[in-house]
Amino acid sequence: MLHPVVLSGGSGTRLWPLSRQNQPKQFLSLIGDRSLYQETVLRASGLPGAQAPVTVCSDDHRFMVGEQLQTVAVPSGGIVLEPMARNTAPAIALAALHVLAGDDDATMLVMPADHLVEDEAAFREAVARATDLAAKDWLVAFGITPDYAETGYGYILRAEELAPGGFRIERFVEKPDLPTAERYLAEGTYAWNSGMFLFRAQRYLDELGRHAPAILAAARAAYATATADLDFIRVGAEAFAASPSDSIDYAVMENTDRAAVVPVSCGWSDIGSWSSLWAVAEHDADGNRHEGDVISVDTRGSLVRASERRLIATIGVEDLVIIDTADATLVARKDRVQDVKTVVDRLKAAG
Ligand code: GDD
Ligand code: MG
Repeated sequence: MLHPVVLSGGSGTRLWPLSRQNQPKQFLSLIGDRSLYQETVLRASGLPGAQAPVTVCSDDHRFMVGEQLQTVAVPSGGIVLEPMARNTAPAIALAALHVLAGDDDATMLVMPADHLVEDEAAFREAVARATDLAAKDWLVAFGITPDYAETGYGYILRAEELAPGGFRIERFVEKPDLPTAERYLAEGTYAWNSGMFLFRAQRYLDELGRHAPAILAAARAAYATATADLDFIRVGAEAFAASPSDSIDYAVMENTDRAAVVPVSCGWSDIGSWSSLWAVAEHDADGNRHEGDVISVDTRGSLVRASERRLIATIGVEDLVIIDTADATLVARKDRVQDVKTVVDRLKAAG
């Protein structure tokens, strides 16, 4: 059976000052009324034959997850709580152990909680193609046609076709440096890794055991010492703390020879920064996106988000991001928003 697994452990620091440690971006309503997490569980529960989605998140966010699931009336397949963050390879291992406990032939669809998918029909069709490959024991990634040299993504070079619309992966390169990403883009043969995966849970554990045995051992020990409380599965803290911290991309996908890719064109985007949010949101005729009380005169290409307590006016500016909240305001050039991380680092350092 197909078990969607929603990864909701990131903190989304590049969307500061809106996203904070106790309010990460996947739980915010960034576009429309629902949060990215809610959009993700709804997308998951709309898949034919899908079981109730499993969420893996930090213990700190358990009530937010419970409440957000309830608001959109999506049943929970369990909320697996991590006592500390150890990145995606261990998080997915916990989910695999959890779904296998109730279904010994479980297939899982791993979905990051912070992505947008505009064309759900195209997504569903790709999931069907991936399910066929997973049944033949492939670990399937979903490939996106790249449109610029992003260094924050994984890159996939495909080999022969294994089944209609599904290819063996020749090479998987996680987060290449800029010259390499530019070369891949110019070669035109690489796809971006979307960060969504589909595989048999047992096959993932087998590959993890082969390429990162310490992660598998820690996840097994942590799950074996888990305690359940309502929907929450709280894994053993001491055992989980012993896990190396690594992503599925580095730990498994770069190393396994059972990787396959299903290319999909589904209006996918990773809302990683304010500029990517601007890019996917609707604009007015001047390329502006306004939220809240905003007056703009002679302003172009800007994202302006007012808080409830203050009106924002802009005159004669271009390509700015202005985000106001109760206790912090960000003003940045749109092409510099990656550096929001630097601000957050400084805030952390200052305690
Ligand atoms: N539960 C849990 N625990 N979730 C986590 C953890 C963790 O420790 N760490 C990250 N996540 C969640 C994030 O919330 C996000 O939804 C997803 O896992 C992926 O983590 P990111 O930290 O956002 O990864 P990335 O964006 O750097 O890279 C991944 O996604 C790219 C596409 O957006 C990789 O898979 C890349 O190859 C891919 O191109
Ligand atoms: Mg990401």
